[in-house]
Amino acid sequence: MQLIVFKDHHDLSQQAAEEIIELVKRKPGAVLCLASGSTPLLTCELLVQKARAENIDLSSCTFIGLDEWVGIPPENEGSCAYFFHNQVFKHLNFSSSHIYLFNALSDSPQQECKEMDNVIFENGGIDLMLVGVGMNGHIGFNEPGISFDLYAHVAELDETTTSVGQKYFKEATELHQGITLGLKHLLESKKVLLLANGSKKAAVIQKALEGEITNRLPASIIRRHPNSTVMIDEEAAAMLKR
Ligand code: GLP
Repeated sequence: MQLIVFKDHHDLSQQAAEEIIELVKRKPGAVLCLASGSTPLLTCELLVQKARAENIDLSSCTFIGLDEWVGIPPENEGSCAYFFHNQVFKHLNFSSSHIYLFNALSDSPQQECKEMDNVIFENGGIDLMLVGVGMNGHIGFNEPGISFDLYAHVAELDETTTSVGQKYFKEATELHQGITLGLKHLLESKKVLLLANGSKKAAVIQKALEGEITNRLPASIIRRHPNSTVMIDEEAAAMLKR
């Protein structure tokens, strides 16, 4: 694991967007997996700007959505699907047949998970996974206590996740479950970028990077990945001791 501390959210987002562009230039058929949320928002905006400025063709890439709120339709502005459509797909030439997002309304979420696992295997695995970290140390919806050995699955959401998650919704929304790639997908991804910014993430970043590697703090798994980069700003790095 490599750690890079940037001056601010803009600088780390710029670097993350650059890494995605460089990967696509090297490998036009790359398999990308992105998280939604406040952290990667600026990365997505800068990715759109850079890809347009440099005429980057994304039509051969495969796009995998990291997670979704179970029961929340894609038209809801708090859904991960809404985020990706608005921040990424409508601005870039991803091919719709190469976009895979969890269907949060599926009658069979287990089947949905199996299909997502198959898509990843059939496409040769994830080349680049870009994730954020939740206030309780989750990655995607891999909540505290989850096994490091799971692929896609349905998760019962922690109280922290359901309350912090309200920030994505216009009105109070009942959230109970999430559907998510598993930490085994993260471990098997060829490259992982974990992003965090702001002072509110400082405590969880300190625990993830300097505490025990444990499923009680899922983000600590990033240290088990041989090709991972933690990209944080000075505020998120403020509680690191070393
Ligand atoms: C959310 C999502 C994650 C996201 C994390 C951090 O609940 N399930 O995929 O990375 O929490 O979100 P944010 O970047 O908005 O702080």
